[in-house]
Formats: sequence, C-alpha cells, structure tokens
Amino acid sequence: MSILRLSDVTASYGLAKALFGVSLTLEQGETVGLLGRNGAGKTTLLKSVIAEPSVTVAGEIAIDDRALRGLPTYRISRHGVAWVPDDRRVFTALSVRENLELAHTKNAPADQLAKVVASVPLVGRLLSRRGYELSGGEQQAVSIARALMSAPRFVLMDEPTEGLAPLIVEQLQESIARLPSEFGVGILLAEQNFAFVAALAQRVAIVSTGRVAWTGSTSELENGSDLIDRYLSAGASQP
Ligand SMILES: Nc1ncnc2c1ncn2[C@@H]1O[C@H](COP(=O)(O)OP(=O)(O)OP(=O)(O)O)[C@@H](O)[C@H]1O
Ligand SMILES: [Mg+2]
Repeated sequence: MSILRLSDVTASYGLAKALFGVSLTLEQGETVGLLGRNGAGKTTLLKSVIAEPSVTVAGEIAIDDRALRGLPTYRISRHGVAWVPDDRRVFTALSVRENLELAHTKNAPADQLAKVVASVPLVGRLLSRRGYELSGGEQQAVSIARALMSAPRFVLMDEPTEGLAPLIVEQLQESIARLPSEFGVGILLAEQNFAFVAALAQRVAIVSTGRVAWTGSTSELENGSDLIDRYLSAGASQP
C-alpha cells in the first residue's frame, strides 16, 4: 500500500488548467524526485496534495488508500503530510526555537525538537536567532526542520535548493538524506537541480506542461539518453 497515491489528477486555477491526468505513488521511506522546468506544474502537484485553496482538484488523491476528497488542508495535515513551501515562510519576528515549537503537534514525541536538531544540525546553532536574522539557506533549513516537528509520514518539499550557494546545498542534502531512516518519512522532492535529486531520490517523475512525461529509477535517468536535455533547463545536469 502506497502512503500517497495520485490517480488521474487534474488541477486548475480558475479556468486555467495546470495539471492534466497525473498519476504518481510514494512509498513509506522512499524519496521521489519531481523534476521539471519553470511552470511545468511541480508546485501545483504539491499544492493539490494539501488541498491548497487556490487550486481546484479532480481525480483521486489517497493516503494509505483513503481518499482525501473534499478534506480541508488542516485535516489532510493530520494524516501525516508536511509541506516545505518554496518561499520557506519562516516567521521573521519569532526565534527559530519558537518557529519550531509552533509546529510541534500533540501526536509527535515530546523530545521531537532534540531529534530534529540532531538530524538538521544547521538549525541547532540558530535556535535563539530571529527569523529576520537568517540567510536564505538557514531559512530553508528551518523550514525543513519545522516540517518534521509534527512527526509526519511524508514531506512535500518544493525546490529547497532554489537560489542557494553550493556549500549550503550540500549541507541540506546531507540532512535530507538522513530523514527517511531517522524519521521513517517519504519525501516528494520537487526540484530543477538534477544532481540534488540524483543524490537523494530512488525514483523520479519528470513533469512537463502539467503531465508526467516520464517515470523511472534515478539510475535510468542518469544513464538515459536525451531526457535531461528534453525536459529540464539547460545546465540542470551540472552539479
Ligand atoms: N496562482 C496561480 N494562478 C494561476 N495560474 C497559476 C498559479 N500558479 C501557477 N499557475 C500556472 O500553473 C502552471 C504550473 O505552475 P507551477 O507553479 O505549478 O509550476 P512549477 O513547476 O512549480 O514551476 P517553478 O519551477 O517555476 O516553480 C503554470 O502555467 C503557471 O503559470
Ligand atoms: Mg514551483
């Protein structure tokens, strides 16, 4: 049984369709990369899972074979879904510790903060800093740590490497690599950075103009012909 299954999902913003019949699965503890150019539909796909109100969804999205149809976002998050949005959304006036504690839910162990800090070491030395005192990479680390505070079953990550320097991308990669074994989470990782996805994901879905154009293992994609040139931006295959 997949923890997350999308079957023939279409999504639109008002009259404008953005996803056309997308099907995808995510298993417990698995990392699946969602690669695609700007405007391909990666964010829309993640927003469809959490029923973000701007998106109208048709088709079926199920967690553990239970259809989510009609459930509001807060109810869906109780099924163990956590979201790392592309704009990070760290509360600037609050300390990092407060940002994390706000996301600590009743179902999560009491010592979840210590566990999260051990897995995302970047945030450990930032706990007393305010959100506005963080660099982009530090905000990203906090955003990932915050998602883990509810002890989720899977995490939707939206382009965590966007705009970040290679050194911090490397540190984030090390942290994200630990999450499946340390927290048992599945990860759906939307990215344009092919090398980052190749290092973390077992499977990849390439999204192009609102459709899943290709799915396969990461190694198939690495060895695969012209897929990267065809569906990803120039330079995406460079580390
Ligand atoms: N709020 C919105 N209202 C209307 N159309 C939207 C909205 N958000 C996205 N779209 C459109 O939906 C399509 C998919 O966009 P989406 O943001 O999902 O792409 P993406 O793959 O996440 O791109 P990027 O890599 O730039 O983040 C695009 O054509 C985009 O213009
Ligand atoms: Mg996006």
